[in-house]
Amino acid sequence: MTTAATSVDSESSAFDVESVRRQFPALSREVYGKPLVYLDSAASAQKPEVVIEAELSCYREYYANVHRGVHRFAQLSTDAYEAARQKVSTFIGAGCPREVVFVRGTTEGINLVASTFGRQRVGAGDEVLITAMEHHSNIVPWQLLCEQQGAKLVVAPMSQSGELIWDEFEKRLTKKTKLLSFVHVSNALGTINPAAEMTAAAQEQGIPVVIDGAQAAPHMPIDIASIGCDFYTLSGHKMFGPSGIGALYGKLEHLNTMPPYQGGGEMIRTVTFEKSEWAEPPAKFEAGTPNIAGAIGMGAAVDFLKSLDMAQVAAYEAELLEYGTQTLEAIPGLTLIGTAQNKAGVLSFLIDGVHAHDIGTILDREGIAVRAGHHCAQPVMDFYGVAATARASLALYNTKDDIDRLAAGIGKIREVFG
Ligand code: ALA
Repeated sequence: MTTAATSVDSESSAFDVESVRRQFPALSREVYGKPLVYLDSAASAQKPEVVIEAELSCYREYYANVHRGVHRFAQLSTDAYEAARQKVSTFIGAGCPREVVFVRGTTEGINLVASTFGRQRVGAGDEVLITAMEHHSNIVPWQLLCEQQGAKLVVAPMSQSGELIWDEFEKRLTKKTKLLSFVHVSNALGTINPAAEMTAAAQEQGIPVVIDGAQAAPHMPIDIASIGCDFYTLSGHKMFGPSGIGALYGKLEHLNTMPPYQGGGEMIRTVTFEKSEWAEPPAKFEAGTPNIAGAIGMGAAVDFLKSLDMAQVAAYEAELLEYGTQTLEAIPGLTLIGTAQNKAGVLSFLIDGVHAHDIGTILDREGIAVRAGHHCAQPVMDFYGVAATARASLALYNTKDDIDRLAAGIGKIREVFG
């Protein structure tokens, strides 16, 4: 056994999944009289008690608007909201909390960058580079930008296994490229992209880099300082936090010089009917009353993840993915889509002669939640020549027993479809 394998084994054996599961009330529910097997965390993850409690106690004990009041509740809410920003900042290795903007989620984070920094940097004849494995949130905002600016959206291709083809990627980093945006971990395939290497290759040519980290942050340690990207987006709900809240990391030098995203209260320094002046970031990008309890809940989710140690989480999930891959590969007539060497816990699959929606429906009756469809990544489905796949996505609370239940559920599909 190699040293690396030894260290992964010891990391994952230190992970106490049963104690983790006990913290998630929904995981002990039954569906159609069967214990729930939740394999849809890439769509949205379940919530631990500490996150639910953080949101509830905000509303029960000290809720008020933030940054506006002099009264006690306003101070308590503001302190908790800003403490959450500090937690997110530390968790992802940002330079300081001012580099963290609270947004609705990854989709809003990317739209924010496209409509501010993007409009500043991308003009007629320029190019924006993405990859072939993006989901709609990291395609459509750039399409809109390119249409508005007369620019071109360029796509770096991937291989049949769902890995970026490095030479083709490098060829597409040209003088015309004004921005690179890519997914850290693919939601449909599980591919983990070499984020630091891709960032370095782009930045060597002066090209700023945006990373969609929605599917990475719940599964592995994230260190913005070592990746070196210009922007990085997160979704609270995929990190075991509330929905409707996320964070956008941006280098302070960019946040300082970018125009505002939306106008309204809180993002201004002064307003007259003739002219307004902007607040400093991150307030400049947080117009209106934010999702206060959501941000506080996201802070609690970050505390929860930190208490588990993300290196241990990654090692545990790697072992689970390997078990899931071997189990599904052994099922006749089942094809896995997305077989990258470096992969997170996504098992997208097809079964000969059975539509993905039928797979999802039959598994549901067995108490097993998977996603069936195009996973908001239609170009990825087109690449593989399919309309949809079934997708079992793993998280830190899943077990080998969940995988066995999935395999047994697939057995039922065979009974129905022959
Ligand atoms: N992008 C989310 C998913 O993968 C919604 O299901």
